[in-house]
Amino acid sequence: QNAIYRAGVLGRAPDVPTDADELERRAHRAMSRKAWAYVAGGAGGGATMRHNRAAFERWRIVPRMLHGATARDLTTTVAGTPLRAPLLLAPVGAGALVTPGSDVRIAEGAAAAGVPYIFSSQGCDPMERTAAGMGDTPFWYQLYWSTDERLVDSMIGRAEDCGARALVVTLDTTLLGWRPQDLNLGSLPFARGLGIAQYTSDPRFMEIVRERMTAPAGKPQVTLGALRTLWSMARNHPGGTVANLRSREPRAAVETFLDIYSNPGLSWRHVETLRRRTKLPILLKGILHPDDARTAVAAGVDGIIVSNHGGRQVDHTVAALDALVAVRDAVGPDATVLFDSGIRSGADVFVALALGADACLLGRPHIYGLAIAGADGVRQVAENVVAELDLTMALTGVPDVAAITRAQLREHTR
Ligand code: FNR
Repeated sequence: QNAIYRAGVLGRAPDVPTDADELERRAHRAMSRKAWAYVAGGAGGGATMRHNRAAFERWRIVPRMLHGATARDLTTTVAGTPLRAPLLLAPVGAGALVTPGSDVRIAEGAAAAGVPYIFSSQGCDPMERTAAGMGDTPFWYQLYWSTDERLVDSMIGRAEDCGARALVVTLDTTLLGWRPQDLNLGSLPFARGLGIAQYTSDPRFMEIVRERMTAPAGKPQVTLGALRTLWSMARNHPGGTVANLRSREPRAAVETFLDIYSNPGLSWRHVETLRRRTKLPILLKGILHPDDARTAVAAGVDGIIVSNHGGRQVDHTVAALDALVAVRDAVGPDATVLFDSGIRSGADVFVALALGADACLLGRPHIYGLAIAGADGVRQVAENVVAELDLTMALTGVPDVAAITRAQLREHTR
């Protein structure tokens, strides 16, 4: 915080804006049309995204004075991972649409800020390479549950081997949501061969593909060559267009990929098998209903992440912040509850923590930082959020993260 302020006092403007609106405007200018549609877009008419932000407007902080504290302690531990501040960078798939080598760049920025990054199953760099970018800063791995259990085990094993400290299973994207901005441009991430690096770098995945090559007639026949084409497109032509996919083979490859990568039949029965498949702490991402939260805790998971995927999955979804309040009430004070969808500032993190979150995930803003200034942009965005949280704690009389409670908030009702 001091460094950021000192720069301001000395009249130096940062290259990455310090507020969410200007950050978004600058990122918009820095991004291609398709990248912007994909990152900034949401499900349907965007009501969920609007609800996510509107929910913050109802909560108001009531600062206390003359507390005499000169320093704050932002550290905390979540699901066994020590955090410098209650902030992690949310998983983002197909980030190479924004910048080549997106996952490694985000990892480098996260590490420079000392903030963990959750690697996506839909990442554009193999997790082993991204892990190297994290240095000593902890990271987690986010899993999309495949239709092939061997691939699930393989991904978990690789995440363990490369040093992930927790496993996040995303529940809300067993199918991709209705995303008009992408659909209207004919531009869904996989169609460009993006977001498949965790798969094409997985030996099991290649085996599974080989099996499907001998699948009964009527199924799309896929050659390894077709998948390699996709893979090299992802590596060499980030942001390449569907025009590259006009030939028949890559199309079949995309269909097979869609068949394998995510399981629309995902159920509690699958989740129950996880405990014996990994020693890593398990968190479930995408919980919104208090009953699902209770079931998750009863199933013995180590944490839940209240999220509506940044409003990208179902239009007219309940605001994530409203769901947070209901979920925390349902699971009690001891369960580990993280939050995302709508966090844009340090003050937002403060409000979410006061309403029961143990830590928050930052989604789009860190991608905007990436778009504007690469790894250093990611670092600046993360540091700005942490700095504003620190300042908010200082100016409201809160010495540490545990002391951020509902007592500091008033609900504003008209
Ligand atoms: C996401 N999100 C996401 N979540 C996940 O579990 N796996 C993924 O691969 C992705 N991919 C992804 C791509 C992009 C471009 C965005 C914007 C988001 C959802 C993400 O982790 C997080 O839940 C939301 O972004 C949080 O909302 P805000 O902060 O963007 O409002």
